[in-house]
Amino acid sequence: MKRKVTKAIFPVAGLGTRFLPATKSIPKEIMTLVDRPLIQYAIDEARAAGIKEFIFVTSRGKSALEDYFDAAPVVEAELRRKGKKDLLELLKMTNMESGAIAYIRQQKALGLGHAVWCARRLIADEPFAVILPDDVIASEKPCLQQMMEAYAETGGNMVAAMEVPADKASSYGVLDIREDMGALVSVSGMVEKPKAHEAPSNLAVIGRYILTPRIMDNLNKKKSGAAGEIQLTDAIATEIAAANNVYGFRFRGQRFDCGSKAGFLQATVAFGLARDDLHDEFAAFLHEMVSVRKAAE
Ligand code: UTP
Repeated sequence: MKRKVTKAIFPVAGLGTRFLPATKSIPKEIMTLVDRPLIQYAIDEARAAGIKEFIFVTSRGKSALEDYFDAAPVVEAELRRKGKKDLLELLKMTNMESGAIAYIRQQKALGLGHAVWCARRLIADEPFAVILPDDVIASEKPCLQQMMEAYAETGGNMVAAMEVPADKASSYGVLDIREDMGALVSVSGMVEKPKAHEAPSNLAVIGRYILTPRIMDNLNKKKSGAAGEIQLTDAIATEIAAANNVYGFRFRGQRFDCGSKAGFLQATVAFGLARDDLHDEFAAFLHEMVSVRKAAE
């Protein structure tokens, strides 16, 4: 029987240099998409997928992230006094149950694989999910939940996958496809950031994973790969040869790369337009901006 996945790792120890100077003092994951920090979208997605234990791999300068999940008694008391029930409810949804959340430090930014490995003792011998909060996915059914449903059939290791243009493949981990079954593909190889002409397909890995505890054993060997970092992709690829149980999952939804400025702006537009309370005013503004620009051309 497949074990239920109840633990998720959120690697948030990166330096976020693409958002300097903002990330000099605020963690990237606290940056706001409409009115919620990126991390809240990741937590909501994990909860919807049945995750009960939330493990953050953090680093120096990330204390705003830890504070975000604390109760806010002063603000709550003020909202209660003013009878602002809606805002109180909204705030309460951000509180985490005591004991549900753990913070582990990654002392040096040695790569995503290393960040995941830092959580090995909390994972022990259970399967686990990994969510990268800078990949934000707009979808009817949250991406990790879609993956959990597929995983209930396959078990093994599963990575979220998305078709990307050939000239962009070298920015991702890319799958070599053994068998294409539609939403699911079985994988015969994985390459992190391949050179343009060496990508085995245009099916790229994005930041959602369901992994077996053996991935931690593979990470134990700590060999550095592409860009001199310890790559999660390499630890997963090792399982292809050892157990032949790695799957890609084409999720239904739109992914935004909120680790990049253009991606963050696109997400802001998409999530802003999707909000009932903002749509009309925001759509009218965007329309006007585009018309003014067209007229100027
Ligand atoms: P990125 O490649 O986006 O790196 O990491 P980064 O440092 O966050 O951002 P830039 O490139 O400098 O702008 C992908 C994910 O892996 C985590 C990051 O926090 C992010 O969620 N990560 C990366 C770690 O936790 N530790 C690392 O050593 C590297």
